[in-house]
Order: sequence, then C-alpha cells, then structure tokens
Amino acid sequence: MDLNLQGKVALVTGAGGGIGAAIAAALVAEGGIVYLGDSNANSAVRAAAALGSAARPVVMDVGDAQAVLRVVRGIVDDQGRIDILVNNAGILKSGPVVDASIDDWDQVCRINLSGVYYCSKAVLAPMLERRSGKIINIASVSATKGGGAIGNVLYGATKAGVVALTRGFARELAPFGINVNAIAPAVVDTGMTSSLLTPESRRAVIAAIPLGRLALPAEIAQMALILASDVAAYVTGETIAVDGGYLTK
Ligand SMILES: NC(=O)c1ccc[n+]([C@@H]2O[C@H](COP(=O)([O-])OP(=O)(O)OC[C@H]3O[C@@H](n4cnc5c(N)ncnc54)[C@H](O)[C@@H]3O)[C@@H](O)[C@H]2O)c1
Repeated sequence: MDLNLQGKVALVTGAGGGIGAAIAAALVAEGGIVYLGDSNANSAVRAAAALGSAARPVVMDVGDAQAVLRVVRGIVDDQGRIDILVNNAGILKSGPVVDASIDDWDQVCRINLSGVYYCSKAVLAPMLERRSGKIINIASVSATKGGGAIGNVLYGATKAGVVALTRGFARELAPFGINVNAIAPAVVDTGMTSSLLTPESRRAVIAAIPLGRLALPAEIAQMALILASDVAAYVTGETIAVDGGYLTK
C-alpha cells in the first residue's frame, strides 16, 4: 500500500530514542523530511545521523512554549510548510502517589500535557493556512486505567489529558482538513521502561498482555505511519490502543 508520504515535512518530538526515533525512521523510509526534536542534543544528533540527509536534528524542550514556536517557525521558514506533527516526547513517573512530590506532578504535566498543547498550537497557523495536516499524539493505556503497568496515576492523568486534547482538537480542526489522533501503547521496550523492569516485573507485565510480549518501537511507528497518511483520512479524534490486548483484561 502506498502511504503517499514522499516529501511530507514532519516534526517528531522526543525522537532522540525509543518510540520517537522509530517513528522518525519509519517516516524517512517512506520518503518524508523529518525533524527530530529532542531536549537531549546528543540523542537527537545521533538518531538523525543514523537516518541520512532527510533527517534533521533539532534541540527543543516541548515544555517551553516560546522555544517550541521558534522551532516550528524555523521548519516552516526552511520547508514552507509542516505536514505532520508527532507529539511523542514524554517522561514517566512510577510508584505510589504517597511517594510522589509536587515537583513530580509539575514536571510530568509540563512535558507530557503542556508539551502536547504547545507543539499542537505552534503548528496550527501553518496547517490552517494549507487546510491540511496530521497531528499524532502518543498517549498510553494508563489514560484509561489512571496509571498503567508501570506509569503511576500522575503519568496516567497527563495521558488522559492527551486523549481529551486529541478529541477536542480533532473536532475543532476537522473543518480545516486537519486530522488529530492518538496512539495508546501499553509497554514498549525502550529506555523509558527497560531501566525500571526487573526480570520479575517484566514477567508480571508480560503476563498482563494477551499477546505475551512487550511491543517493539517499530510496531508503534507502523500505526503512526498509517495515521500520518491519507489511508486514515476518515479517522479523527481516535485514540488507538496498540497494546497487545492489554486493555481487554
Ligand atoms: N515505552 C513505553 O512503554 C510507553 C508506553 C506508553 C506510552 N509511551 C509514551 O511514548 C512516548 C515515548 O516514550 P519512549 O518509551 O520512547 O521514551 P524514551 O524515554 O525512550 O524517549 C523519550 C525521548 O523524549 C525526550 N524528551 C524528554 N523530555 C523532553 C522534552 N521536555 N522535550 C523534548 N524531548 C524530551 C528524551 O530525551 C527521549 O529521547 C512518551 O510520550 C511515553 O509516555 C511509552
């Protein structure tokens, strides 16, 4: 199936590693011009270098609204447009709420929730001008459960906010040709999760997933590709679980 993503201009946040790097790689493989945004400059440069000249590293903190605007303006100055935004950057908080601090809450809200808003708002003007665009948010099954297999309630609450932003943005932007959808993974084998999983907790997580394994970053990227393409032109406002069946239990 031709996804027709040749020459599309994309910004993927948190693309220095894990799911974001896999999404950037998948978009480049389809012929996209991809800006890999990350607050970690080394990670962004390394991930982009692995993908060749269609991949451009860009240092950005999604929780800094002014910095986000500068990055998006730079992309539009260079390319004349931005077709795809993947709001992937995020941090995890785990453990019981009694042990969480106000700083934990402020930080996870700023990056996971405000970051999605700031980046989405920044691409609106160029997307509205062309009456075309795709915004894809990486949520989590923890939005449904108020905390998932690893993420805690603070994390789950931010991801529930991402689901609400997805639905509301989709409704408002549909008349302007902009699709907004989200992907909700369960547990993906990335730097975010590997450091927290002991052999024992990994077995427990896998036991909670009907397909019997963690997701590969590339499996999340495949869904992102579909949502970035006009194959999914009639899908908007949805949060699609790519979770190995985790939410069925
Ligand atoms: N790994 C999982 O099991 C899982 C499950 C559900 C949802 N998710 C979500 O998927 C997304 C990616 O997760 P991952 O597992 O690839 O994580 P990861 O930690 O492997 O990668 C996240 C990347 O985001 C970058 N980042 C962190 N804060 C940033 C900021 N303020 N601005 C810009 N970049 C920033 C990091 O430097 C890193 O490169 C996150 O939103 C996460 O919540 C992950």
